[in-house]
Amino acid sequence: MTDISPRQYSNQTKPDPCSFVIFGVTGDLTHRLVLPSLYNLAATNLLPDKFCVVGVARKGTSGEALRDSLMKGLRQFATRPVDDAVAKRLLECVTSIEADPKDPASFDAMRERLEKLEANRSTGGNRLFYLATPPDAFAPISRQLGRTGLLKEDKDDGAWRRLVIEKPFGTDLASAKALDAELLKIVDEHQIYRIDHYLGKETVQNILVLRFANGMFEPIWNRDHIDHVQITVDEKIGVGHRGSFYDSTGALRDMVPNHLFQLLSLAAMEPPIRFDAHSVRSEKADVLAAIQIQSEEEALKNSVRGQYLGGVEIPDYRKTEDVKPDSTTETLVALKLTIDNWRWAGVPFYLRTGKALGIKRTEVAIKFKEAPFAMFRCTPVDRLSQNYLVISVEPTEGISLQFNTKVPGPSIVINDVEMKFRYKDYFKAEPSTGYETLIYDCMIGDNILFQRADSVEAGWQAVQPFLDAWKKAGSKGLEFYKAGSEGPACADELLKRDGRSWRRLG
Ligand code: BG6
Repeated sequence: MTDISPRQYSNQTKPDPCSFVIFGVTGDLTHRLVLPSLYNLAATNLLPDKFCVVGVARKGTSGEALRDSLMKGLRQFATRPVDDAVAKRLLECVTSIEADPKDPASFDAMRERLEKLEANRSTGGNRLFYLATPPDAFAPISRQLGRTGLLKEDKDDGAWRRLVIEKPFGTDLASAKALDAELLKIVDEHQIYRIDHYLGKETVQNILVLRFANGMFEPIWNRDHIDHVQITVDEKIGVGHRGSFYDSTGALRDMVPNHLFQLLSLAAMEPPIRFDAHSVRSEKADVLAAIQIQSEEEALKNSVRGQYLGGVEIPDYRKTEDVKPDSTTETLVALKLTIDNWRWAGVPFYLRTGKALGIKRTEVAIKFKEAPFAMFRCTPVDRLSQNYLVISVEPTEGISLQFNTKVPGPSIVINDVEMKFRYKDYFKAEPSTGYETLIYDCMIGDNILFQRADSVEAGWQAVQPFLDAWKKAGSKGLEFYKAGSEGPACADELLKRDGRSWRRLG
């Protein structure tokens, strides 16, 4: 067993001195993920030696109140036992500043305070602005940061300035483009770090290694050998207290152009010529741009929308707090997409994600073409089962290969078996939030795991026909499914009409 932490941190160097400025510091994301990740980096000695955390909130929160609240969050959400000395050292770096984009003068005052703090802490003027805020604040905050010059990179002093943006990046193609255009007036693309937390997951990153560090997969990774690909992100949880956000978002926007397309692009991209941000992100953007854009009519034919009805622990979606009682928002979506390039032409990609389903499962399943049956016609074998290569992110992180084998005995009986690799059998990794890698990479200036504008826009472009078609269709075509079930039957129909079926668990 090899003892490694998520990204072989021991080989890594400390980031440059910097200030880490968090907008939305009083919110859930900061408490649940950002601070516990900073703590994990501190515990593995991977924060800069000269460092400060500036928490920006709209309403006055004293430094002390903020530190108390962050400490409480840390005790609740830390992924490893909290060492008080490490936590104390980290929290000593935390300062609170009040600023509201509606009050430009507050940003001028913030600049003054930040510069003083930076001089005291000797951070060299390197700054990372982390927008852990609701999406409608991304542009107004960035505008103020631009106006006050806080984001300006100065060639003379070499200090870097970076902007980290959470999802959702836009709500459709037009709004994503508008946000990109706005940001690019303020900063260069290399300064923007668009987060998709799926890229912080080890198994997701491992898709690249599986495909390109092994000679055996690439030769068969194409339409000559692959029948189709299934990308599934099923969740057991319902919408919970996020009714207001979710009802105006829906499963498609919430999951597909971001998380599912990350999985798709890594599984379908061409080999990058180098393991660097430019090469990897260019190949990912290219494959997303090759997704065939469907007409609205095709989009209706190639999609299923579902909404959950109550189950044992989950109420009807429409009875959820802050959800409209006649809402037509989908909580499940299944899509058939095709990628129009030489590698994938004719190979369907079936995508499916939903809430309140019977199991939590995230996986990419590659289904290989079936072997010719002729040889077995004169035997008791009546069918050959399917060869799947499954990259599993949840519930177990690992990779498995399903193939046919002979059942021991005098006659020819064939059964399918599964060869399984599980991460936990080989590597001992400290439990992590998945954000450590992303935050560390922002600080060292490696944007390989972040989304570039062209990828984000290509993703929205591919889903836009579905959004448009469903908007026009209203409640027509919306199917209901029971919480805790496998989803609506018509999701099965989507594959059945192509003579295929979803991979079942177990
Ligand atoms: C978030 C979505 O981005 O991803 C949530 O907004 C979803 O609705 C979550 O539950 C799923 O993430 P994970 O890591 O649990 O698969």
